[in-house]
Amino acid sequence: MDLFEYQARDIFEKHGVPVLGGIVATTPDEARAAAATLLGDQPGVVVVKAQVKTGGRGKAGGVKLARSVEEAGEKAAEILGMDIKGHTVHRVMIAAGARIAQEFYFSLLLDRAERRYLAMCSVEGGMDIEQLAVERPEALAKVAVDPRTGIDQAKADEIVAAAGFDAAIAGQVADVLRTLWTVYRDEDATLVEVNPLVLTEEGRIVALDGKVSLDANADFRHDDHAALEDASAADPLEARAKEKDLNYVKLDGEVGIIGNGAGLVMSTLDVVAYAGERHGGVKPANFLDIGGGASAEVMAAGLDIILTDPQVKSVFVNVFGGITACDAVANGIVAALQILGDEASKPLVVRLDGNNVLEGRRILAEANHPLVTLADTMDGGADKAAELANA
Ligand SMILES: Nc1ncnc2c1ncn2[C@@H]1O[C@H](COP(=O)(O)OP(=O)(O)OP(=O)(O)O)[C@@H](O)[C@H]1O
Ligand SMILES: [Mg+2]
Repeated sequence: MDLFEYQARDIFEKHGVPVLGGIVATTPDEARAAAATLLGDQPGVVVVKAQVKTGGRGKAGGVKLARSVEEAGEKAAEILGMDIKGHTVHRVMIAAGARIAQEFYFSLLLDRAERRYLAMCSVEGGMDIEQLAVERPEALAKVAVDPRTGIDQAKADEIVAAAGFDAAIAGQVADVLRTLWTVYRDEDATLVEVNPLVLTEEGRIVALDGKVSLDANADFRHDDHAALEDASAADPLEARAKEKDLNYVKLDGEVGIIGNGAGLVMSTLDVVAYAGERHGGVKPANFLDIGGGASAEVMAAGLDIILTDPQVKSVFVNVFGGITACDAVANGIVAALQILGDEASKPLVVRLDGNNVLEGRRILAEANHPLVTLADTMDGGADKAAELANA
């Protein structure tokens, strides 16, 4: 899960990374109030920053200086509603203004191929870091980080030396890098990026912008992470599926898909898309992997999600019986249709194979549900489901 900058700022603050004050606002009035809180009755500068989960906000006009409470409201009015690379700005952060002497870059990320972490750091940070990485890669230090030791004092010193920081600030920067490591480790992040990390005119090292991605596999260790989710951005069907612990991804087509095992479901999407070419160009409506233990409840929950998708015209259930045998799956389908009652209103094509397939097919044939068609093969089932979706 990627976080907004204001959420990253809050997490940095919690772990002791030096940051400036920042208050999120969704209207110009709130922006004025936030600026008033940050400025007090002193003259000063705040920065109004678009909160969208994409880079290049500054260049797109989504980061603006304001020299008064009034101006903060005006800039917020300009930025709210702006479109930045396809992301609509619904919130801004009003940040205390820094007097910047120098801008640096730091990131720590998961290096899957090398099975460790990678730290990247440059004394030439700021908005042109992508260009720097391409044109002068030698100016971007890359230092491997062993997950078992992380960024300890020695590693922090190594990164700071590789990037070429001035001796006068090297110690201070190394301290901030060690603190950023504790963010990465303790929050189970897969990315912590600070661009820019700045040296202020007052001689302080401060994180002025933060990007943090959290590892959803570690959510069970972090009760507080669920609250960071952007509920407004989630697809409503995906949100409901998630509540029921289903592995569901909404797609754009008309044929609902249920299968067991990610590989089988992926190839089912392919054969349905292929069959769709013969039937008016219909496409798969979703990915849904109900996993190994395809119980009646899981089948009902999955069918329920798919059938409430108004785009869905037919459903293809493609299950290969393994530890959960086909008879159990067939009973699950029959029970699911009973649970759903009138809600089950779209034709279902079911293809079963694998463990105890004959008994599975017999159960479905005997139930003789008016919406269910049995298919012998995956290609045949895909073709039938596509045909029904196009009818
Ligand atoms: N609080 C602040 N005070 C002063 N200047 C700031 C502040 N925040 C940002 N800036 C200036 O604005 C520039 C852009 O800000 P920021 O890095 O947050 O956005 P961005 O880099 O354009 O966005 P992204 O990192 O998403 O690409 C910074 O490089 C810095 O010069
Ligand atoms: Mg930035």
